[in-house]
Amino acid sequence: MTNTLRHSKLVLSGMQPTNTLHLGNYLGALKNWVRIQDEMPCLFCVVDMHALTQDSGYAKAADVRHATREVAAAYIAAGVDPARTPLFAQSMVKEHGELAWIFSCVARLGWLDRMTQFKEKTGKHKERASVGLYTYPVLMAADILVYRATHVPVGEDQKQHLELARDIAQKFNNDFGVPDFFPPPEPVIIGPATRVMSLRDGAKKMSKTDESDNSRINLTDSADTIAQKIRKAKTDPGAIPANKDEMIGRPEAENLINIYAALSDTTQEKVMREFGGKQFSDFKNALADLTVAKVAPIADEMRRLLANTAEIDRILKEGAAKARAIAAPIMEEVKRAVGFVV
Ligand code: ADP
Ligand code: TRP
Repeated sequence: MTNTLRHSKLVLSGMQPTNTLHLGNYLGALKNWVRIQDEMPCLFCVVDMHALTQDSGYAKAADVRHATREVAAAYIAAGVDPARTPLFAQSMVKEHGELAWIFSCVARLGWLDRMTQFKEKTGKHKERASVGLYTYPVLMAADILVYRATHVPVGEDQKQHLELARDIAQKFNNDFGVPDFFPPPEPVIIGPATRVMSLRDGAKKMSKTDESDNSRINLTDSADTIAQKIRKAKTDPGAIPANKDEMIGRPEAENLINIYAALSDTTQEKVMREFGGKQFSDFKNALADLTVAKVAPIADEMRRLLANTAEIDRILKEGAAKARAIAAPIMEEVKRAVGFVV
């Protein structure tokens, strides 16, 4: 019997409130959250404490607050149902921070040194990065394990952080003599678009922090902007590949096909069967129409929700109270296990 079976299934995931969400966040993560809601109990948070790990130049209070509400609105607009699924800001549940400290005493420097996202984000300027950016995956492990969550729907780029969370869970259980106390959380990485690439460079991930806005489709982009960005997307002079072999070495073509497949809930193969041999201009028109049809209603609903920030704040506080009801007793057991007087 694996540890996961001993623990009841529970899903947790989160996104940072830094800039507006994009198509990669939607297809890689959010779309799967909406689906998994029907299969297991879920908790979804806006990880505002993680947002402070970026340069303090960005992390201005008003920006973080606005982006937190915007991300919450995106969750709801995409189909997360706050009546069923607690939705909250990470900072509203103090147990995340408490457990993160204990986990920072469990995790080893060598483990964190291997994290590729930290290396990518800091490049040659490691010494100027915040300590928080370095320990970011430790807080992420706490976000998950403070609820003993077993499943974590994320994009491909978070796989390594999930492995670290598993290592922390296991070492905590061993070190404090509490076998099976924390489950090893499993990543749920599904669909044809687990790693959506930049529209300007098929070798780079679509990201909120890319300086070119043309590299991504924001969930809040207008229909015209979406169509324009897709028409301008980088491609090669060939026709649309008709099979896997023809796709080799053509990352931009593969990316657009994967986006089409994910948005229409089908597979890469089916899209190639339909469009293989056609010109990119035809395919791009179809992709633009499809993207507008799927994304525009989310943007409209986000705008409607954001007109009433008091209601969003109410939903977040209500979700936080439900989340705390799960986290607080687990945290008390953690404190006992490590030797604190409770
Ligand atoms: P970003 O990398 O754009 O700053 P986050 O780090 O906040 O976004 O990611 C939030 C969620 O979206 C995570 O589950 C992450 O794996 C997923 N995600 C981010 N970018 C992509 C992408 N280009 N393709 C697929 N999933 C992505
Ligand atoms: N690190 C994740 C990202 O960049 C965000 C995140 C923080 C997260 N805590 C989490 C994702 C807990 C899943 C579960 O996307």
